[in-house]
Amino acid sequence: MSKESLAINGGKPVRERPFPARFMLDEAEKSAVMALFDAALNSGNAFGYNGPPEQEYERKFAEYLGGGFADGVNSGTNAVFVSLAALDLEPFSEVIVPPITDPGGVMPVVYIGCVPVVADAAPGSYNTSAEQIAPLINERTRAILVAHIAGEPVDMDPIMELAKQHNLYVVEDCAQAHGSLYKGRKCGTIGHIAAFSTMFGKHHCTGGQGGIVFTKDEKLHFEGRRAADRGKPFGLVGAAGNVRAALNCNLNDLSATIGIVQLDKLQGIVQRRRAVGERIRKALADHPLIRVSKQVPDTQSSYWFLRMTMDLEKCSVTKQEFCRALSMEGIPLNPEYRHIPCEQPWFKEQKVFGKSGFPWQCSDYKGDRNPVFKVDNAIQAALTGFNIGINESWIESDADDTIRAILKVADAYGKTEKAK
Ligand SMILES: Cc1ncc(COP(=O)(O)O)c(C=O)c1O
Repeated sequence: MSKESLAINGGKPVRERPFPARFMLDEAEKSAVMALFDAALNSGNAFGYNGPPEQEYERKFAEYLGGGFADGVNSGTNAVFVSLAALDLEPFSEVIVPPITDPGGVMPVVYIGCVPVVADAAPGSYNTSAEQIAPLINERTRAILVAHIAGEPVDMDPIMELAKQHNLYVVEDCAQAHGSLYKGRKCGTIGHIAAFSTMFGKHHCTGGQGGIVFTKDEKLHFEGRRAADRGKPFGLVGAAGNVRAALNCNLNDLSATIGIVQLDKLQGIVQRRRAVGERIRKALADHPLIRVSKQVPDTQSSYWFLRMTMDLEKCSVTKQEFCRALSMEGIPLNPEYRHIPCEQPWFKEQKVFGKSGFPWQCSDYKGDRNPVFKVDNAIQAALTGFNIGINESWIESDADDTIRAILKVADAYGKTEKAK
């Protein structure tokens, strides 16, 4: 394939039609919401929160994860916040956090008064591993927060083993991993407590924003509920009032009504995304320049996005140029997913509460006041990777167009083809 044939050089793009939209919501959500409104109009009482729809959503979600306790909250960020707050850690405890994640997956650590310690990624991954976490554990460490980025499960067993040895909690951030499987177990059921985002872009949603916390531990569940609702004494008999300081992170019955319908679709959504992701993975399996990124063995991603890895030594152009050319072929992509917490201004400038430098600069914190984290693998994964935005509405021909476009660009820019 010659460079001249590339769309970026005036050739015909592989894909001229747009890829299908998600069609996340349909008449089923609409009629469920309308029924809720009708009930409110008929009764004269507005719908609220923690009512029958929210309870049903939480019950159904816990059932989806094989049984346990769920609490709907109003964002994925607050699901992480509530999961951490449920642990009731002492201030200035260290919490090990993921190398690449959404800011909302890390900022809650400082809002519970704890100190984030950034673990590097496993080689070739956006996710961390026990090997990266182990050297960061010290007498101040109390919890490990892992995120299954892109829907790719973190290698959990060695992390759970490490946590057991050191008596640490493990929180799973499953914002991007609804329905992902680790050795046959659903992500979110392996650690002590798990946080899910249900904002509109996730595998299943509760409307524009939302989240849900899951645990099999009843004590953590009730502590989380207190942390999510101004310290109300959920699960306590005879408590006189609000038992801890907390915010209001509640979900509501309207969002839960959407969530109930969405849960019926979740399995199918995950299966269809997986079929697309695996089709593209298989087609590029032996490609010298570009492939779908390697995953932990015996895991199944739920493909929130398709993570690609390039061997840039075999490419005659930069990754950015490659991505521009692929994008011009009509493929939806994000050329770099470099969301490394310790590279963010708020983290580097320690901007949490005023100019205090909290928590790092407080005299009660005995760790490094200006820590420098080694995140070389995460940087390498970000620099050599990019993401393709697949979704569950894609059919085989959408996957095949993507494969054809990737092969076309790789063929034009592969070093062995350079002489053409
Ligand atoms: C891994 C991860 N954690 C946390 C969040 C925060 O979720 P939300 O946007 O619902 O607050 C996100 C959002 O995309 C995420 O991807």
